[in-house]
Amino acid sequence: MGYFEIEGPVRLEGDVEVSGAKNASLPILAASIISDSKIRLENIPDLLDVRTMMDILRSVGMKVSFSSGKVEISPPVSPNTDVPYELVRKMRASFNVLGPLVAKYGKAKVALPGGCSIGVRPVDFHIEGLKKMGFDIEIEHGFVVAKRRKVRDARITLPKSSVGATEHLMTTAAVLDGVEVVIENAAMEPEVVDLQEFLRKLGADVEGAGTSIVRVQGGVKSSEAYHKVIPDRIEAGTYAIAIAATRGKGTIRNMLPEHLNSLWEFLEKSGVNLEIGRDLVKVSMSERPKPLSIDVTPYPGFPTDLQPQMMAFLSVAKGTSHIRENVFHARFLHVDELRRMGAKIELSDSTAIIEGVQKLSGAPVNGTDLRATAALVIAAFMAEGKSEIHHVEHIFRGYESVIEKFGKLGGSIRYTEVNEYED
Ligand code: EPZ
Repeated sequence: MGYFEIEGPVRLEGDVEVSGAKNASLPILAASIISDSKIRLENIPDLLDVRTMMDILRSVGMKVSFSSGKVEISPPVSPNTDVPYELVRKMRASFNVLGPLVAKYGKAKVALPGGCSIGVRPVDFHIEGLKKMGFDIEIEHGFVVAKRRKVRDARITLPKSSVGATEHLMTTAAVLDGVEVVIENAAMEPEVVDLQEFLRKLGADVEGAGTSIVRVQGGVKSSEAYHKVIPDRIEAGTYAIAIAATRGKGTIRNMLPEHLNSLWEFLEKSGVNLEIGRDLVKVSMSERPKPLSIDVTPYPGFPTDLQPQMMAFLSVAKGTSHIRENVFHARFLHVDELRRMGAKIELSDSTAIIEGVQKLSGAPVNGTDLRATAALVIAAFMAEGKSEIHHVEHIFRGYESVIEKFGKLGGSIRYTEVNEYED
């Protein structure tokens, strides 16, 4: 619990180094369950969500060491396949250990993840897919209890693109010797491709990641594996938007620009100057952005995880913008907070209509989830005057060394921890 104090306006200028991808690290850590040998990972970001996933692996009985981006994982001597509720409650991605556990050890019990502030987060695609592969799935008292019966070939068509379901089912199928699983309408995000590369290093025969059809021939050889995780495209995009939104000038280093083509297209359309290199992007902006109409869709469309940050950027555009959220229809809790800073935003169905204002003004606001809180940090650097961002701890779930990285760009942040029981 705690809050940031930020004095604006600030032009963010300088270099920022991107860390490893949270949303590639989490499925790869979950997939490490299926290996009988030691695994070494690199470029793993030090984030609350990553540490939660490591605690889950430790609760299974695996040995996990983590220091300066490097992780070493060894298999359990006597595995425990009941995952504690308090760990799953902390982070919904923990649900994805269910499949690897039941496939490898024959049984597993994992709490159903709750909802969260970006909307209802069902896991029905995950459960239907596991059932199609022949697993016995029961839901009792808020837990999913899975047993491995007679597993079989399966062709699974996901009703809509789901990153988590695609990754969960790919990883589970990789364990099943002699079974072929085909996932249709698979998510095509770069993090799914990175997971495929990792599963291949464990000896699984996986192909098609990055397209809408992923095919897995199960069977994992027990060989030591090493993998370096891709850079975090959402972190990179967040800093690019922050530099543009504060009319600054900077370079985002150690990233893969091709993972954010949709963002570059929209930023250029709004008047931002970009220079795109092999592993860096230079960003500069000197005026109010032109308004945009953005359709948020699964990859390679505009990413939902950059929607709140883009809304902050467009809140001072020279005209009215529209952002239609097609992935998480309720991902708008940041709207009320941006309104408190002077933004003029209306919501109709799952579309935000943003009438650009001259400038934002600093205010006390409340972080509701990871990307909404990132958007409020950007808005606070844009705004005239002082802002306080309460419940700011959300941001530590997804942005490694965020205070230091913004500090290096000239954006000073004062962080005050609050004891949650303080009245
Ligand atoms: C992943 O969440 C990311 N998290 C999210 O990033 C990201 O916003 C999301 O993908 C979309 O890109 C991780 O990778 C750890 P989905 P996930 O399954 O897998 C519906 C962040 O800020 N759905 O692709 O949970 C779902 O409700 C986080 O880093 C079902 O209906 O998202 C949503 O409308 C936030 N049933 C849509 O699919 C299911 O069984 C896409 O969700 C599963 C999903």
